[in-house]
Amino acid sequence: MFRCLRAKTQDLRPNTEYPIPTVPDTLHDSFLPAMSAIAREAGGLLLEHFHQKLKIEYKGDADLVTAADRASEALIRERIAKEFPSHDVLGEEQGLKDRGGEYRWYVDPLDGTTNFAHGYPVFCVSMALERRSGASGQRIAAVVYDPTREELFAAERGRGAQLNGQPIHVSKIAQLKESLLATGFPSHKRHQNPNIYFYHQITLHTHGVRRPGSAALDLCNVACGRFDGFWEFNLNSWDTAAGVLMVEEAGGKVSRFDGSPFTLDSRETMASNGLVHEALLHEFQEIFAGRGLETLPDPRR
Ligand code: IPD
Ligand code: CA
Ligand code: CA
Repeated sequence: MFRCLRAKTQDLRPNTEYPIPTVPDTLHDSFLPAMSAIAREAGGLLLEHFHQKLKIEYKGDADLVTAADRASEALIRERIAKEFPSHDVLGEEQGLKDRGGEYRWYVDPLDGTTNFAHGYPVFCVSMALERRSGASGQRIAAVVYDPTREELFAAERGRGAQLNGQPIHVSKIAQLKESLLATGFPSHKRHQNPNIYFYHQITLHTHGVRRPGSAALDLCNVACGRFDGFWEFNLNSWDTAAGVLMVEEAGGKVSRFDGSPFTLDSRETMASNGLVHEALLHEFQEIFAGRGLETLPDPRR
């Protein structure tokens, strides 16, 4: 099914604006320069599409995909294949091409597709790099690029997180009642998502809960202290892989909703500045148990 909001999209064109350094894998002290160049290039491509009319397709009843999602992933895969031919890539649009390599990329080529498709300028490119050993792995580097604000978030394990080259840290807000949080609602299987109860309760117990529509940016905004916390049900590995490393490297905390360690297949993401984490976990316990639920006013009165 198609819906036409804007004019025809453009094909992927070679871009010479962001040259990618070619360095053998073993000599990489940091993957960030190459990752940043790829993210900026893909972000530039998204912006070109953003200013055109575009064709929307539906993956589900409200689950959108555009040519920009696909073109961005194609560009990213092409750049990775050229510079890191032994690396595997798991991308939202094309899935995992697993050759058992030592490195795996988690790529969301356009996080915030619904915003993008409606012309709301909150979206990004999100990429994380994992070093694998056996069946598990550890994310070692991440970049998230917001082309509308020209904000590049970057983190490396053990080396901190940065926004446009400047170190970033989570906020110092220690009281949940003084915090500003963010959450998200999936476009897939919407009827099975209980988040509206959490949204309601936590809205009433904080300064508010935003719902910006890009989980990767929400996590980055926790990392740089704009939000004090974020949670969402049922996110995928490509949504969280980069943003979670960003929060951890900025001094924050990420867990499941019961406080147990977050993993990429957790389906529960709770991130915070660390200081409000216990209080947020407590709110979740209470809501899951049905205790202290505020009654919604009757809309007919
Ligand atoms: C979505 C965004 C949104 C979140 C959804 C995700 P997409 O990713 O991150 O904020 O609430 O759960 O699916 O589809 O725009 O890449
Ligand atoms: Ca996403
Ligand atoms: Ca996406």
